Amino acid sequence: MGDLDPRAFPLRGRRVVLGVGGGIAAYKAAELARLLMGAGAEVRAVMTPAAREFLTPLTLQTLTGHPVGTDLFDLGQESEIGHIRLAEQADLVIVAPATADLLARMASGMANDLLTTLLLVTRAPVLLAPAMNVHMWSHELVQENVRRLVGLGRIHLVGPDDGWLACRMTGPGRLAEPADILEAAGRLLVPHDLAGRSVLVTAGPTHEALDPARYLANRSSGKMGYALARAAAARGARVTLVTGPTALAAPLGVAVVRVTTALELEAAVSSRAAEQDLVVMAAAVADFRAARAATKKLKKATLGATPTITLAENPDVLAGLGRARAERGARLPVLVGFAAETGRVTDEARRKLVAKGCDLIVGNDVSRRDAGFATDTNRVTIVGPGKKLARVPLATKDEVAHRILDAAAALVSAARK
Ligand code: PMT
Repeated sequence: MGDLDPRAFPLRGRRVVLGVGGGIAAYKAAELARLLMGAGAEVRAVMTPAAREFLTPLTLQTLTGHPVGTDLFDLGQESEIGHIRLAEQADLVIVAPATADLLARMASGMANDLLTTLLLVTRAPVLLAPAMNVHMWSHELVQENVRRLVGLGRIHLVGPDDGWLACRMTGPGRLAEPADILEAAGRLLVPHDLAGRSVLVTAGPTHEALDPARYLANRSSGKMGYALARAAAARGARVTLVTGPTALAAPLGVAVVRVTTALELEAAVSSRAAEQDLVVMAAAVADFRAARAATKKLKKATLGATPTITLAENPDVLAGLGRARAERGARLPVLVGFAAETGRVTDEARRKLVAKGCDLIVGNDVSRRDAGFATDTNRVTIVGPGKKLARVPLATKDEVAHRILDAAAALVSAARK
């Protein structure tokens, strides 16, 4: 992964201040710091005095590699001025856990410790992850404080989750999972250039039945399509993910439509296409299906030595959308296809751009071990209007997804003008 492109991934190289409030969930801030560091963020931790009753600054200092800001009035600590400067330079401030007391102090504009001071100084987006007792969370005053803070527009909320709480009660008040906080943080750092748009993404393989036990399929894991759905949702779109069979969890905030065959995928896509601003076809749709799938399991004994399967051609879903759009004379939805190739990737991408009548084709060399099917990384060439090329070097599929959406979102906004 040496030559991963650092530009696109939302947290890489970003300065994140992690504010920790004084609640039992403070111990999870250590896991969150680790995840943020793993995503490439530069993390500086600031703890309230109460937080230090639950977690030692040494833990966060060791994980982040930086001194932890704790005291506003400790002249021996470089943190006061240094952390105020950090607040000015931060790309994002996360407060986890955000206790009822912290929310109240923030909502009334208090600056009586280092963290609340820093929160008044920063102009960066702030992500609050509340955690508290279920009755505290539902209290009118806490809810009023949350409404007030979120109403400012720059302060966002993740969680709290519903579940078992340290006070031995069950209900809303549990700190959001660190992985969900990480995802919410990433969403705040990507451009919201698809806000209010509808985006449909296809992902995964299709399975074409031969009999009740066997099917024709391909090596698609769905990872590229799911990354695109996640990235589009992060950029503010309403996302529908039409997915063939995969082992992946549904991305947060995405409507998932599960299909098995190419014909089902075509029906799911074409019935929704007219409502979309953007359709991205990352699915590896089978070109052929069995002309007649057997209703009973085919028996070796009755098939003979070398059985023959007669195939029928599946509809080309993407080309169908391109044709339908051209016939209506419409500019929407913007159509993005992929070209999975094992050679002459750019030439084939250019050919498919024209043949399928789409706006962008993402050429994907699937003969490489670190790109294409079932990998966590990809390397693609985007062929677009005027046959312009953008090469996306080896990067995670999430990063590649954002680079594809950089190009697609520009076309969506041009088409809407
Ligand atoms: O799922 P992963 O494991 O992460 O792998 C990602 C991927 C390699 C599957 C993905 O990056 C990719 O390249 N997807 C397209 C696979 C494919 O079917 O390529 P194609 O060159 O055969 O098809 C070209 C385009 O037409 C594609 O957008 C495809 O979705 C579409 N198509 C193809 C056949 C068909 N009958 N209908 C279609 O709409």
